[in-house]
Amino acid sequence: MKGTTWLKVITLALVIAGLFFLVGCPPAPVVEEPAPEVENKFEFFSWWTAGGEAEGLEALYVIYRAANPGVEIINTTVAGGAGVDAKAVLATRLIGGDPPDSFQLHAGLAIEKYAPEEYLEPLDDLYGAWGLEKVFPPDLLTLLKYQGHYWSVPVNIHRSNVLWYNKQVFADNNLQPPKTFDEFFAVADALKAKGIVPLVMGTKDGWEAGHVFENVLAGTLGADGYRGLWTGKTSWTDPKVAEALENFKKMLTYVNTDHAALTWDGAGEYLIEGKGGMMIMGDWTDGWFTAKGFDGYGWAPPPGTDGIFVALSDTFALPRGAKNRDNAVLWLEVAGSKAGQEAFNPLKGSIPARTDTDRTLFNAYLQSAMDDWTRDAIVPSVMHGAAAFERWATEFKDIVALFVTSGDVAGTQAALQQACVNAGGTCP
Ligand code: GAL
Repeated sequence: MKGTTWLKVITLALVIAGLFFLVGCPPAPVVEEPAPEVENKFEFFSWWTAGGEAEGLEALYVIYRAANPGVEIINTTVAGGAGVDAKAVLATRLIGGDPPDSFQLHAGLAIEKYAPEEYLEPLDDLYGAWGLEKVFPPDLLTLLKYQGHYWSVPVNIHRSNVLWYNKQVFADNNLQPPKTFDEFFAVADALKAKGIVPLVMGTKDGWEAGHVFENVLAGTLGADGYRGLWTGKTSWTDPKVAEALENFKKMLTYVNTDHAALTWDGAGEYLIEGKGGMMIMGDWTDGWFTAKGFDGYGWAPPPGTDGIFVALSDTFALPRGAKNRDNAVLWLEVAGSKAGQEAFNPLKGSIPARTDTDRTLFNAYLQSAMDDWTRDAIVPSVMHGAAAFERWATEFKDIVALFVTSGDVAGTQAALQQACVNAGGTCP
């Protein structure tokens, strides 16, 4: 390029720069910030996914939505009966500072796992405001009070010790529900001879054998003997514990061979189809049968437990730092209300925690449970949080699960005694 051409280019650039200087830079485009969305949510955390469980929960949601139409419900569930998997996820969330707004919690000593004074809000004021002390039975209130406070609102009372049977199968074989272990084995033999699975069981989730065994313990030791195992009045080295293990070992010889592949409800299908005769499981099974449209079932206390009610209760808690605390309080109010409990329990297969509900809304099984609840000896379930701290209940669960395959009575009894010691219990 020649010198004159360079000169022209530089002059042109200067003119353009000057123009920009005079007119100013073009204004930056205005970006409209979206108005911050008002969060109006409510997250509830549970392990209720099976038939009856999900329906009962949905009935509560229906009432909640009608009263609070603007609130979006987030239904968080971690499947696995008795909360085997849910409880660990929940503990991680609480410790990690990411609690759900409310969660399912068993009444009783299970609460210790969640260090309530650190992670939960005491609910004494809400109990007062809603008059809950007047509508829940004293025994339940005692079970709910921990370190002098109420930490959760009970929605129901469940019974652990129920022997369900297929009525048609029993009628076809002229059988009566067994009252004693001897009668149980006689019925089991009769069913086995017909090619019917005598005792239906699923052990896939690891807690179901412990569930059956807590009822065998109650049936072998009686109400006081069983209760004493958790309070230190009965020794785990007692010969009656060995007898309970022998009873259970024999019962296991009548169980479906595919039990390790089935959950409690998966195994229940045998009963519905008439391929199985009996099943020992909590009364959420009543809700499950109802959800499946099956009404051919009968019920009786498992061997030795007539007059004993092995009890547990589902409650809802309020974590500290809940993101939607006000919506959670509204939820607890629904859970504790007469309308809430009348909607939830007939579907869930439990009886209300409240004493003022309408009995006619409940089916024949649940009405019988209501009667038993008022006259039986009430003892706490260990597999469902009432009887012992979570770490003891977990060890009990694992020991019994192992027993299903080992059948080692002496070793298992020693392990149960050690579990008591490990948990810091009183272990004569
Ligand atoms: C129990 C719980 C019941 C039912 C059952 C099976 O622990 O209290 O509500 O859900 O487990 O999952």
